[in-house]
Amino acid sequence: MARGDRRRRGAPADGPRTAERAARGGPVRRDGRGGRARGAAGGAALALVVLSLALGLSGRWLLAWYRSRRAVMLHSAPPALPPDSSSPTVAPDLFWGTYRPHVYFGMKTRSPQPLLTGLMWAQQGTTPGTPKLRHTCEQGDGVGPYGWEFHDGVSFGRQHIQDGALRLTTEFVKRPGGQHGGDWSWRVTVEPQASGTSALPLVSLFFYVVTDGKEVLVPEVGAKGQLKFISGHTSELGDFRFTLLAPTSPGDTTPKYGSYNVFWSSNPGLPLLTEMVKSRLNNWFQHRPPGASPERYLGLPGSLKWDDRGPSGQGQGQGQFLIQQVTLKVPCSVELVFESGSARTGGSQALEQLAGSLLTHALESHAEAFRERFEKTFRLKEKGLSPEEQALGQGALSGLLGGIGYFYGQGLVLPDMEVEGSEQKVDPVLFPSVPLFTAVPSRSFFPRGFLWDEGFHQLVIQRWDPRLTREAIGHWLGLLNANGWIGREQVLGDEARARVPSEFLVQRTAHANPPTLLLPVAHMLDGGDPADLAFLRRAFPRLRAWFSWLHHSQAGPVPLSYRWRGRDPALPTLLNPKTLPSGLDDYPRASHPSASERHLDLRCWVALGSRVLMRLAEQLGEAEAAAELGPLAASLGAEESLDELHWAPELGVFADFGNHTKAVQLKPRPPQGLMRVVGRPHPHLQYVDALGYVSLFPFLLRLLDPNSPRLGPMLDVLADRRQLWSPFGLRSLAASSPFYSQRNSEHDPPYWRGAVWLNVNYLALGALHYYGHLEGPHQARAARLHGELRANLVGNVRRQYQATGFLWEQYSDQDGRGMGCRPFQGWTSLVLLAMAEDY
Ligand SMILES: *[C@@H]1O[C@H](CO)[C@@H](O)[C@H](O)[C@H]1NC(C)=O
Repeated sequence: MARGDRRRRGAPADGPRTAERAARGGPVRRDGRGGRARGAAGGAALALVVLSLALGLSGRWLLAWYRSRRAVMLHSAPPALPPDSSSPTVAPDLFWGTYRPHVYFGMKTRSPQPLLTGLMWAQQGTTPGTPKLRHTCEQGDGVGPYGWEFHDGVSFGRQHIQDGALRLTTEFVKRPGGQHGGDWSWRVTVEPQASGTSALPLVSLFFYVVTDGKEVLVPEVGAKGQLKFISGHTSELGDFRFTLLAPTSPGDTTPKYGSYNVFWSSNPGLPLLTEMVKSRLNNWFQHRPPGASPERYLGLPGSLKWDDRGPSGQGQGQGQFLIQQVTLKVPCSVELVFESGSARTGGSQALEQLAGSLLTHALESHAEAFRERFEKTFRLKEKGLSPEEQALGQGALSGLLGGIGYFYGQGLVLPDMEVEGSEQKVDPVLFPSVPLFTAVPSRSFFPRGFLWDEGFHQLVIQRWDPRLTREAIGHWLGLLNANGWIGREQVLGDEARARVPSEFLVQRTAHANPPTLLLPVAHMLDGGDPADLAFLRRAFPRLRAWFSWLHHSQAGPVPLSYRWRGRDPALPTLLNPKTLPSGLDDYPRASHPSASERHLDLRCWVALGSRVLMRLAEQLGEAEAAAELGPLAASLGAEESLDELHWAPELGVFADFGNHTKAVQLKPRPPQGLMRVVGRPHPHLQYVDALGYVSLFPFLLRLLDPNSPRLGPMLDVLADRRQLWSPFGLRSLAASSPFYSQRNSEHDPPYWRGAVWLNVNYLALGALHYYGHLEGPHQARAARLHGELRANLVGNVRRQYQATGFLWEQYSDQDGRGMGCRPFQGWTSLVLLAMAEDY
């Protein structure tokens, strides 16, 4: 997963503080010029070279300076997406979206300075003290299950959220019109969890709008302290108006009594919104519906008044935060309507407000259209999958689409300073401000972009909406630096940064990550959709630069071998130094990291990359590139060279090679705790006897000929119950391995050491399906294993989904239980393609 130490990640409690620390005090050199000043920087570099030569400065210093400049310089190839492709004029239907995956419900515009909307809620009067305010998705807040039942990625979605005694449904639908992204409406419905309870809960719903800077918001307050509407204007949105409608009972139009409170201040900074509302929720009010006994509730101020006691004491010119609290008895339903001014001018017909029965109708027809399109795309019903499996598939797709975010900001980068073998100490520098439109692995735990996850995400998304995939890949390729590097974890903007401890903010430009984006690219080539091909034509120079950087920067000790840079150092506290760039974090590698290592998975990724790039060059008529890539693809495709570098005769499988001994153990050594003990035989250069996902890569990426003598042994390993086969899918590490289920340190539980992961299982299904359709000695066996593995995998994910309501990060190979973080609607959503047998 390459997500570092995942236990320390979420840390939402001190998230904002950590981010602030990083933003203020950290060793960050403010240098935002980066790519924009590319030409100027190049000229300056030359001038400085000349100057320092004249002054006799050390060449080493110069090289370091030059490298750190290039690290944060954007690549000069033309962009893969047309300029302004995110603007409301060019892509009006994508301008508004649920692009804040880390909040339970919220929308924003695809804009560097967005207008944001969101929902918070709290059940009143349950416990003495402050009610629990819900806003951002958290692992440990007791909310759940939650997730999108439907989400089409563009204009409609319906989500269900269980929260103790409450059951919420959040729905949105958009209506095109005008030049600024059109209208949209929300409906939030709250019902009691158990029917027939005598005391119905009192709930507060908080609807808010936040602006980032120059926008103007003008609230209009009604008699009872409720906002009648908020009007406003921004350059991107033109004139607009929000209206919060009177609450009703669900499915009914008769109004329901609500109590209103409102709060208005400068924007304290997006990561601090929850805290700000909590701290202002400190007055008792009476909720007195006519004819019912009054109830106390905690509320924001009773009337609209500008409050400028921002937490930082400043607060001018940072935008506004306006929040309306509606308190009422469950069950209830509240609608928020956004209307764009330009949808109303020009045309003569008055647009009816998208609310009430009109909204109900729009939601129903979108749900129906979603179901039809879903079946047309994936054909689960036609293939005989059960209604439960179809619901799982819809939930998997919807959760992935509903997790798409739009981020904007500057990442932190540590330039590669390995000069003549010695590492120089350098500080991280800021990457230029860049936008990123991407799906995310998990709304609660990893609500930001991850490079190798994204390739898997887009395999699902492109089947549904190829345009979204072009948008996402185009954005990722926009992150390319001058050398052709893309950082593997993208923490862009305050909201994303607030969720990441500072030690994980920095991306090193020496480190790679599997080039999985080439998987959806290969699918585009197979499909031949003209829009995809036009996109690939624009994207080609960037794809090529990215691949070329991977091929050169991760070169191994001998030709056609490759080595992941950035393994952990051999600390005495680690059983096996991790390899985060590979994506398989703690998967065991050579026990003693060295420059002599050859990594099998990386070699296979590069082989796949060269193949895809060459096909692409041929298809696009890029003769020069095809001539260059051809020989590389041929050499990497030759099984003799793979055999020579990676076939371990003594193990009977393909393997990594490096300085290794299997005689390592963690032993308790008070007072330090668990410490690594190395016994005999001493480490020496040899094949690494760790049987697991890495061993399968030549098969997983379909690099072997169906007649290859190595295919049989691969299938043996895969199908062996003592090794990779479990009743719940293929385990990441053989049950017979000494590392199986082992912790890596006192504080580091096993991650890729036995658990079942959906992304690699999906690759395995694809490979079995592939070899099951090609003539060869293993054809029948591959086809049979495909059927069995698919049944095991899908069956288990479905059972866990039914039992918990979530898709999970990984699954136990012992009892199938979902493990790690949840919801994990990133690559676990591949279960949909497994059901559809679409590889
Ligand atoms: C292997 O590692 C050991 C321990 O660090 C070291 O002494 C030895 O020189 C290494 N051998 C090679 C070939 O790198």
